[in-house]
Amino acid sequence: MIQNFDYHVPVKLVFGEGSINRAGEMAVQYGTRALIVTTGDYFVETGLVRRLQEILKNAGIDSLHYSDVDPNPLNTQIDAGAALAKKEGVDLFIGLGGGSAIDAAKGMAIVRGHERPIWDFCIGDDVAEITDKTFPIIAITTTSGTGSEATQWSVITNVETKEKPGIGCEYTFAKVAIVDPELMETMPREITASTGFDTLAHAIEAYTSTVATPVTDAMCEQSIRLVGRFLRRAVNDGSDREARNGMAYANTMSGFAIAVGVVTTCHGLGHAVGGVCGTVHGETLAAMTPQAMRYSMRALPDKFRNIGMFLRNEYANEGPDRLEDSVREVERLIADIGLDNGLASQGVKEGDLDLIADNTMRYMAFNLDIDMMNPTKEDLLGILRASM
Ligand SMILES: [Fe+2]
Repeated sequence: MIQNFDYHVPVKLVFGEGSINRAGEMAVQYGTRALIVTTGDYFVETGLVRRLQEILKNAGIDSLHYSDVDPNPLNTQIDAGAALAKKEGVDLFIGLGGGSAIDAAKGMAIVRGHERPIWDFCIGDDVAEITDKTFPIIAITTTSGTGSEATQWSVITNVETKEKPGIGCEYTFAKVAIVDPELMETMPREITASTGFDTLAHAIEAYTSTVATPVTDAMCEQSIRLVGRFLRRAVNDGSDREARNGMAYANTMSGFAIAVGVVTTCHGLGHAVGGVCGTVHGETLAAMTPQAMRYSMRALPDKFRNIGMFLRNEYANEGPDRLEDSVREVERLIADIGLDNGLASQGVKEGDLDLIADNTMRYMAFNLDIDMMNPTKEDLLGILRASM
């Protein structure tokens, strides 16, 4: 019997090799002057920014480029990008890159529309409401992780307060998500591994959250199967087109799943760790996911058992209890892609853990609420210590 559910993700998805060539015909529907947002100038060096500007120009769209965005985008950088956009009369934001560039573009579209600093929309009792004044966003993803092109979520870091909340609502979805696996062929091995693991973490958490739906479950299952088949291959040989294509689709499925099924305890902790210690998102998740699974799996044994089966691309479970097998399967994958580094080796200190747990309880509470286990601070500390 299928449970009642809603599913609404208003993103036009353009998937496939060469799909970046359609950016102009998409952009022209939403604006006349675009700000292309990237993290640093890597895509200037590869020629991708120029190529995109040509594609846009051929469709009659003017464009500027803004690259002062960190891998964990800062609130100050988003405000600065939005100020430039206002001065230049920009009416469309294009995030070109991984989640950082796309999240920053979303943030700038919010600030440009409301003329208030982005941090006003992030944390606090009188947090500002994001409305339909938000400018249109197009997401062109160059990594196969984060899912930001498919979701309403934007993750923003404040270095002064050491906080890294996620914000988003129905107005912060990209109008169009362009997923072109060809753009991913030059992605370095470490980024392939960390973003690929983020894809898996999204699928595991959306699949096991209390707001999971039958349709997001199907996406998560497909995503986990594809990660099991293709992530090792994509990490070992970046030019493996079939593996890149499979991971791009896995990430797309995970992204559309977390737009509705959201993410749970491990991502809640992951944001707080990143805020306090500036770690790499996917690497932090790899350190904590096995322990977070061990913590939550007894509450939902069937689904957690399935995760290992999906990763092995099996279609039936054998044996009475394969819960721990599921975790071991995830741990094998983490080791094979070179991410078996505990939090301590990523710069997290024993003395940081209390603040991380407090921050998670304070501003990632929603993600804890939708975890079957509804963890306490002590539970969070237990996961963190076991992940060191
Ligand atoms: Fe993530």
